[in-house]
Amino acid sequence: MFRYWSLALALGTLLLACAEDNDFVDVCFAHEGEKPPHCEFIDFDDVFQTSSTDIKFNWSFITKLTISNKKIIGVPTKMFASLPNLESFIVLNSLFYREIDPNSFVDCNKLNHIEITGTNITLLDSHMFPKTPKLQYLLFHHNRIAEIKHDAFEFLGELEELNLSYNNLTRLPSGVFHKLRKLKTLDLNHNSLVLLSFDSWFPSDGAVAMTFLDASYNQLVDMAWTEITVRKVNLKYNNLTSVTINGNCSEFHASHNAIDTVTIGRNCSLEKLYLAHNRIQGSDWLQKCSDTLRSLDISHNLQQKGTDFLNLKQITALNIECTNITLNYKTLHDLRKLRFLDISYNNLKRIDLENLTSQRLLERLMISGNPIANISISAIKRNFPNLKSLGIYDLPWNSTSLSIAIDDLKKHDIQPYIRSDYLFDESKCPLKVTPSFGNDTDHDSGDPDHSKDKRDHVVGGDKTFEYVVIALLLLAVCGLLAKLFVDSRYFPVLFKERIQRRTSISHESLVSCDLNG
Ligand SMILES: *[C@@H]1O[C@H](CO)[C@@H](O)[C@H](O)[C@H]1NC(C)=O
Ligand SMILES: *[C@@H]1O[C@H](CO)[C@@H](O)[C@H](O)[C@H]1NC(C)=O
Ligand SMILES: *[C@@H]1O[C@H](CO)[C@@H](O)[C@H](O)[C@H]1NC(C)=O
Ligand SMILES: *[C@@H]1O[C@H](CO)[C@@H](O)[C@H](O)[C@H]1NC(C)=O
Ligand SMILES: *[C@@H]1O[C@H](CO)[C@@H](O)[C@H](O)[C@H]1NC(C)=O
Ligand SMILES: *[C@@H]1O[C@H](CO)[C@@H](O)[C@H](O)[C@H]1NC(C)=O
Ligand SMILES: *[C@@H]1O[C@H](CO)[C@@H](O)[C@H](O)[C@H]1NC(C)=O
Ligand SMILES: *[C@@H]1O[C@H](CO)[C@@H](O)[C@H](O)[C@H]1NC(C)=O
Ligand SMILES: *[C@@H]1O[C@H](CO)[C@@H](O)[C@H](O)[C@H]1NC(C)=O
Ligand SMILES: *[C@@H]1O[C@H](CO)[C@@H](O)[C@H](O)[C@H]1NC(C)=O
Ligand SMILES: *[C@@H]1O[C@H](CO)[C@@H](O)[C@H](O)[C@H]1NC(C)=O
Ligand SMILES: *[C@@H]1O[C@H](CO)[C@@H](O)[C@H](O)[C@H]1NC(C)=O
Repeated sequence: MFRYWSLALALGTLLLACAEDNDFVDVCFAHEGEKPPHCEFIDFDDVFQTSSTDIKFNWSFITKLTISNKKIIGVPTKMFASLPNLESFIVLNSLFYREIDPNSFVDCNKLNHIEITGTNITLLDSHMFPKTPKLQYLLFHHNRIAEIKHDAFEFLGELEELNLSYNNLTRLPSGVFHKLRKLKTLDLNHNSLVLLSFDSWFPSDGAVAMTFLDASYNQLVDMAWTEITVRKVNLKYNNLTSVTINGNCSEFHASHNAIDTVTIGRNCSLEKLYLAHNRIQGSDWLQKCSDTLRSLDISHNLQQKGTDFLNLKQITALNIECTNITLNYKTLHDLRKLRFLDISYNNLKRIDLENLTSQRLLERLMISGNPIANISISAIKRNFPNLKSLGIYDLPWNSTSLSIAIDDLKKHDIQPYIRSDYLFDESKCPLKVTPSFGNDTDHDSGDPDHSKDKRDHVVGGDKTFEYVVIALLLLAVCGLLAKLFVDSRYFPVLFKERIQRRTSISHESLVSCDLNG
């Protein structure tokens, strides 16, 4: 607890410190004469007034330049000519009075990392980086980029990572990534792209080096991508209605779309497939992936007819929460390697163990939110000898039978899962049932928001943590206000982002970690 408080204080102080105005930039020097490599703050004006003669340091030793919270008239043309050893150029949370001049980045022979984030630039012009032969990391996230010229990245043959997330892109011109032959990572999340025209963005012989593409949180309605040779693809939170997965992609995320049709190409290499919150019916299309598929999430896809997972023998993690599934003898019969199973919110009246005899390796079972009247923990343990945890919240049990069950679980070395350590995603599940008994603990009025609040309070275990989060938020708000009063420059967008990310842990990530074991 003390740790949390000191963390909160440290962070608060840091925020206020940031809010203070200064005219200095952070500069790092390489080994210089007797001086070892070091970083220091130097006067901002010295850097940009190329005419100054009384500068105390030798520019040619500078390896890293970080400018934050500044108003920048522009990156001076040929500024980098006087910084021959510069490896990293970073601009954070600043205002640019003009778009970046393509003539700025000349003679950057050692420049390896450019990061310009939290600024108001809107355009990446033609031939932006004509002479940056060593550039590998180009980070432009959290700007307002709405346009990228088709030849902006023309000379970046060594580029490995391009981050354009959190911008205002609605389309990318054809050929925009043609020359990026070594690109491994492309991040386009949080833009407004409508088409994922991968085939036209990249050279026709494919993006051979790419291993990760993130285009989540856009407005994608369609994709033109013949052969998905990128190992890991993230397209969640878009407007896709169908996807075709061809090629040797092994991890595909497309949760929170409107997908009703999935087509798998000739050879399937998928190992992890996440398609929660879509409109998928049935699972026959998965047969081609039976040799490789290890992890499958099709939760929140309501099935009208019976669905089974025959032949999918390699699956170790399966999430079928809120799918209206019925468990008969066939459903999970072939899943002998299963270690994680989520069948929460399926309106199952009982867990018929006869129909779950193949899952001897099962370690985690989630049965929450089903109208199951009673279960025998010892029978469960007999059926699943390796079971380590059982999700049992939102069951129609009164407090007496719940505590009996919890005691029983502990006796069998099984950890009961409750809301605070496992985020169920039941909020929008139409199969959620109102408990018909157990009124003494949960007076469910049928209003989902109301009952959710209440549950949070009942199981809110570690209150200290909540208070610390509130304190952090207050400090953040104070920092923000202080900053707004000191001057009207940009406040780190990044900080806000981080807070949001903290609270958005979903069970999808839980499933993913689970798989690595
Ligand atoms: C800076 O250091 C470089 C390399 O040691 C040297 O060639 C150059 O003359 C120095 N410049 C100044 C202004 O001292
Ligand atoms: C950034 O904002 C400043 C102040 O609002 C404005 O003067 C400037 O033109 C903007 N820069 C760009 C590139 O839009
Ligand atoms: C790109 O930047 C965003 C925002 O900081 C970050 O969340 C994301 O992880 C970055 N992408 C990659 C591939 O590192
Ligand atoms: C993004 O672009 C749209 C038009 O394409 C514009 O209306 C909107 O203001 C832009 N948003 C930002 C943050 O610049
Ligand atoms: C996918 O296939 C391409 C060629 O089509 C190959 O270069 C790449 O190494 C393969 N990737 C994986 C992960 O197998
Ligand atoms: C994508 O879906 C969202 C929410 O359903 C909707 O507001 C938006 O207009 C859609 N965008 C497109 C391009 O269809
Ligand atoms: C698909 O697999 C078959 C045999 O397993 C192989 O002959 C063929 O080359 C593969 N096709 C592609 C496009 O990888
Ligand atoms: C659930 O499945 C049954 C058939 O097993 C079907 O009749 C019913 O409409 C489904 N319910 C929902 C909400 O989709
Ligand atoms: C178990 O499977 C049998 C035969 O398939 C079926 O009759 C029974 O209803 C199943 N039990 C449950 C709970 O689904
Ligand atoms: C569950 O309830 C049924 C009757 O509703 C009863 O026969 C059975 O013994 C109960 N099982 C346990 C484990 O309490
Ligand atoms: C709780 O439920 C159990 C079994 O359903 C029942 O036997 C018991 O009387 C109930 N206890 C209370 C306090 O309602
Ligand atoms: C539970 O509460 C509902 C309404 O709040 C009521 O209709 C129902 O009879 C109660 N059930 C029991 C077993 O008390």
